[in-house]
Amino acid sequence: MSPTATTPRVVIVTGASSGIGRATVARLRERGDHVVLAARSAEGLRAAELETDGLAQARGGGLALVVPTDVSDREAVAELFSAARKRFGRIDAVVHSAAVLAYGRFEDVPPEVFEQTLQVTLVGTANVARASLQEFARPGGGSLVVVGSLLGKIATPYMSSYVTAKWAVHGLVRCLQIEARSTPGVEVSLVSPGGVDTPVYRQAGTYVGLHGRPPPPVVTPEHVAHTIVHCLDHPQRDAGVGPANPITVAGFRVLPGVFDLLVTPLMKLGGLGRESVPATAGNVMSATPSGESTRGGFVGTRAAQTATMALSVGGAALLAVRRLAPRLPGVGR
Ligand SMILES: NC(=O)c1ccc[n+]([C@@H]2O[C@H](COP(=O)([O-])OP(=O)(O)OC[C@H]3O[C@@H](n4cnc5c(N)ncnc54)[C@H](OP(=O)(O)O)[C@@H]3O)[C@@H](O)[C@H]2O)c1
Repeated sequence: MSPTATTPRVVIVTGASSGIGRATVARLRERGDHVVLAARSAEGLRAAELETDGLAQARGGGLALVVPTDVSDREAVAELFSAARKRFGRIDAVVHSAAVLAYGRFEDVPPEVFEQTLQVTLVGTANVARASLQEFARPGGGSLVVVGSLLGKIATPYMSSYVTAKWAVHGLVRCLQIEARSTPGVEVSLVSPGGVDTPVYRQAGTYVGLHGRPPPPVVTPEHVAHTIVHCLDHPQRDAGVGPANPITVAGFRVLPGVFDLLVTPLMKLGGLGRESVPATAGNVMSATPSGESTRGGFVGTRAAQTATMALSVGGAALLAVRRLAPRLPGVGR
């Protein structure tokens, strides 16, 4: 699977116009691979292509092919794969990064926005996975890397559409990994990031009066892209990205009562912005290319991040103690 000077790898990247997908395009082109860029917005894809042309030239000229595609549309996904095959003769790997989300209490998110989030984030994953596995059934096999999320393992308020979709995505990927054991040469990896500095938080729909923001500790999209590209050569069942993920998942599983008490105040302190915004479907129903780029502008200095995290955890703990106090023997009124 590793590219050589004579045979660069051919990789389809969905969600290639923004954030983690766009950073992955850069990393692949830096390595000399041919990359097929897919997302809904042609404008965003062209920007990602132009931005990475220099990297490819420095590396001997890996090519880029832009194919505007809505992953929630099964036929459009089939056309994406056939365009890639027609241009390059084969497809060696697929990185699936496309997703959307909407913030808001479950009952406040319009049903059509909730359903479209599932259609893109879950059904879109199934569409891309199915096309990939059909492609990899040809001699030579191939590698599929699906970007999941820490939120495919835990729950949080105001993100029910996304949490629902990502739990299902994780379940689907685990099924595919088990089935792939009987198809030599076919590899399926899951990458599960925590908070990443991408535009997704301002691109998302919101019905909670605020935009989202990545909860600390926040990693860069380039960091996640590095893990994704590593998985192409060294498949992994679940590659977590984010220093606090293991402890967060452990808290969710081992101490669900404490987790449920803390997660809403923590979300308000660390996972939502401060400025009021009107209700919007964001990019859930259609692309908003003006907001697309690699980074989201959320990463501060390490000291600022540590301070934000300490404030969030400390503040949430104080809120939780205040709420618990009347119920504890010898504490409160
Ligand atoms: N950022 C984080 O903190 C974080 C954390 C954990 C996991 N993740 C996961 O990482 C992946 C990438 O997220 P990101 O943060 O990089 O988001 P992002 O910057 O908003 O990028 C999302 C990409 O998906 C594309 N997309 C959206 N709907 C699509 C559709 N129907 N068909 C095809 N492409 C579509 C977008 O382009 P168009 O709108 O032009 O289609 C864009 O290129 C997602 O799976 C997300 O769940 C992100």
